[in-house]
Amino acid sequence: MSQLNNKPDAFRIAVVSPKGGVGKTTLTANLADALSLSGYRSLAVDLDPQNALQFHLRSSAVDANGLAAASLSRKPWPSAITAGRGQVSVLPFGYLADRHRVLLESRLAPPRNPAQWMHNGLLQATEALGDVDFVLMDTPPGPSVYQQAAIGSADMVLIITLADAASFITVPGIDRLLSSPTYQPLRGQQSSYFVINRMNTARVLGRDVRQRLQQRLGERLSPVAVHFDASAEEALAAQETAVHYAPDSRAAHDVAALAQWVLRVAA
Ligand SMILES: Nc1ncnc2c1ncn2[C@@H]1O[C@H](COP(=O)(O)OP(=O)(O)OP(=O)(O)O)[C@@H](O)[C@H]1O
Ligand SMILES: [Mg+2]
Repeated sequence: MSQLNNKPDAFRIAVVSPKGGVGKTTLTANLADALSLSGYRSLAVDLDPQNALQFHLRSSAVDANGLAAASLSRKPWPSAITAGRGQVSVLPFGYLADRHRVLLESRLAPPRNPAQWMHNGLLQATEALGDVDFVLMDTPPGPSVYQQAAIGSADMVLIITLADAASFITVPGIDRLLSSPTYQPLRGQQSSYFVINRMNTARVLGRDVRQRLQQRLGERLSPVAVHFDASAEEALAAQETAVHYAPDSRAAHDVAALAQWVLRVAA
């Protein structure tokens, strides 16, 4: 049983963004790994049909198995869990033919609640693993049944953003989305925070946007930004997290600090 935030099972974090390619998958994997280095057991869940999360965590599964196929064939999710690195377990999305993905999405669409599907699956998964402290959910960019499932079942939402003008203008939209009836958290209490990734302090615009985000969001902007660091990309080429591949890198240090901040917020 998790001691975090008095949750009966694991503390759930949805990693989301309105825009694509901002680093959700990279940060989900690295955060899970950094939490595991601090002694916390995590389940990293891929809700993105791109199915890329497993490649950051050296998970053994490269086949069709995953939560998507399990859901379609009404098999229990634990059957799709694979071992990642360290104390991280991985639940891949898996590969689905387009028509099967469309079928799954139609089964999750209103009037059904995708968050309930996620909640039930996660309860099965965490119960089978036992003693999971964190569930981290990677999502596709923008609104989708998967994003709705992750946000609606989460205790904390991390909105990943870049320190650029294009990301700044998406802030009101994501806040509107979080307060809309279809995204309401199943477990009641939920916090949401913005996290800047690929921060480049050498750029005036980057520093400026960060300052404006700080003014606008106050404590909802994580005090830890993850800086631009080539080792984040190099790590993926080695099917690793930056945390393990380049432990002395800026990215690894930033993610470790981010993990400590998450632990404080979740406590
Ligand atoms: N801090 C960083 N420094 C440098 N490169 C980074 C950093 N974080 C992520 N990247 C790189 O940015 C690219 C996009 O990252 P990633 O795939 O994690 O984004 P994403 O938000 O999951 O994308 P999508 O919306 O397609 O799911 C990758 O090439 C990744 O290696
Ligand atoms: Mg991704």
